[in-house]
Amino acid sequence: MLELTPPLVLLSGPAGFGEYLKLIDHKYVGGAILKTITFHPKEGNPTPRMADGDFYVINRIGLENPGIHRFVEDLPELPIPMIASLGGDSFEEYLEVAHVFKKVADRFCAVEFNFSCPNVKEGGLSIVRNRERWSDLLRELRRVLPESFLIAKVGIEGIFVEEAAEMVKDAGWEGITLVNTVRGLHFEKDTVILGGLSGPILKPIALRAVYEVKRRFPELFVIASGGVYSVEDAKEFLSVGADVIGIGSALFKDPGIVEEIGKYLMEVRR
Ligand SMILES: Cc1cc2nc3c(=O)[nH]c(=O)nc-3n(C[C@H](O)[C@H](O)[C@H](O)COP(=O)(O)O)c2cc1C
Repeated sequence: MLELTPPLVLLSGPAGFGEYLKLIDHKYVGGAILKTITFHPKEGNPTPRMADGDFYVINRIGLENPGIHRFVEDLPELPIPMIASLGGDSFEEYLEVAHVFKKVADRFCAVEFNFSCPNVKEGGLSIVRNRERWSDLLRELRRVLPESFLIAKVGIEGIFVEEAAEMVKDAGWEGITLVNTVRGLHFEKDTVILGGLSGPILKPIALRAVYEVKRRFPELFVIASGGVYSVEDAKEFLSVGADVIGIGSALFKDPGIVEEIGKYLMEVRR
């Protein structure tokens, strides 16, 4: 089992490569899920890449990252446990990225595979559409990384979370992160931004996803991702069975939120 103290992680993307940790007392953060790394480096999308509305943040970063080779050569050093996030643009790229990552796998307490980024053309979210192929991929990745604690990050598009969870469990994976952003459209004056929604608007969706999955597969380790902005939000996710509370876009609003939630989780899990 993966023990994170407190059971709180910074989510992939907002956690970057640990930049926000400068603003937070480390003892209140159990781990950081680093930005998703793909086989080839990606520049990401042109601006605008982010905007916000009353109850949400929308982003279309497009998985900007240095690529797996640069990543393994120049591994970040963080004062807290690190979870890698790996992604791909195709079936083959997921496997290639996992093969290169294998060299440094022992530096990470777990690996999350991103099967749900809505901002890339292939791979990402679209990989789950072909169930048989996705299931093969899960099994192949398990073979490439037999020792790692494997976590699949899935969203609510392209598949029901409970169906995804069953496939993840059957492939011998330990965990699942629920959910990723949901595709949305935002007007910034006259400019249309197509991107992934996160923030408070996502919370009821993420709560339902955690609830459905934990009810059916209590043995799966579940990281909650979606709209945790307060201690109250964290309490709700714990009550539907989340094993770890993930904080994403709230970091942009106020990194102090992380400490507050971290303190609370230290107390309830003591
Ligand atoms: C700016 C930004 C970049 C993101 N980049 C990634 C990413 O690289 N990989 C990933 O799996 N999720 C990414 N996400 C999704 C977050 O990890 C998280 O699942 C989502 O924001 C929901 O949590 P929140 O409501 O607490 O923000 C990103 C989110 C934002 C706002």
